[in-house]
Amino acid sequence: MSRVTVVGAGKYGSTTVQRLAEADIADELVMTDIVEGLPQGLALDMNQSRPVLGFRTRVTGTNDYADTAGSDVVVITAGLPRKPGMSRMDLLAVNAKIVKDVTEQIVRHSPDTVIVVVTNPLDQMTTLAAEVSGLPRQRVLGQGDPRQRPLRQLHRRHRRGRRAVGQGGDPGQPRRDHGARTIAVPRG
Ligand SMILES: NC(=O)c1ccc[n+]([C@@H]2O[C@H](COP(=O)([O-])OP(=O)(O)OC[C@H]3O[C@@H](n4cnc5c(N)ncnc54)[C@H](O)[C@@H]3O)[C@@H](O)[C@H]2O)c1
Repeated sequence: MSRVTVVGAGKYGSTTVQRLAEADIADELVMTDIVEGLPQGLALDMNQSRPVLGFRTRVTGTNDYADTAGSDVVVITAGLPRKPGMSRMDLLAVNAKIVKDVTEQIVRHSPDTVIVVVTNPLDQMTTLAAEVSGLPRQRVLGQGDPRQRPLRQLHRRHRRGRRAVGQGGDPGQPRRDHGARTIAVPRG
């Protein structure tokens, strides 16, 4: 029995659940959100598409973290997205509170999970989730967008045997937000 939870049933979260369901890589997907009824309604629609799209994964929508218990992987997409004119760092204070609360709830019910953070500003939220969860650092990951130009450069360098790190220069701990300021440095 494998269970994946996605926290945040907005644009990123609901698309992630749909894609994971179609990939049929988990027995159950649990989608949760602070908005009552939202994940339940989306889950109903997705489950009804199972016979049409031919996947077996069961999708559950809930507002109760008890229903996420025993998740193997939890994806955190909860939080505000940018509005025009905003940088990812403008989201720091409000999303930090959300990610902290969400992470505490997650590890209470899934103490051995792997957390994938999507919420921006990404590197800061990933570091926060790692600290709040108390999980080993290899169990808390950040999911960026590889289409961005600096990250394309970073992947090219990685293929050439160079290590990709955040602008802070510490190979294990990116300190800046993913995006224009992300850089790659040669392996030591
Ligand atoms: N890492 C990346 O590459 C990447 C890409 C796109 C978006 N993002 C980030 O992902 C986040 C979500 O983006 P989106 O477009 O899906 O936004 P959205 O507004 O469509 O969805 C966010 C959802 O989070 C929910 N939410 C808010 N507080 C919550 C809480 N305490 N507990 C549970 N759910 C809560 C909201 O109700 C909403 O449904 C944003 O911070 C955005 O910047 C990151």
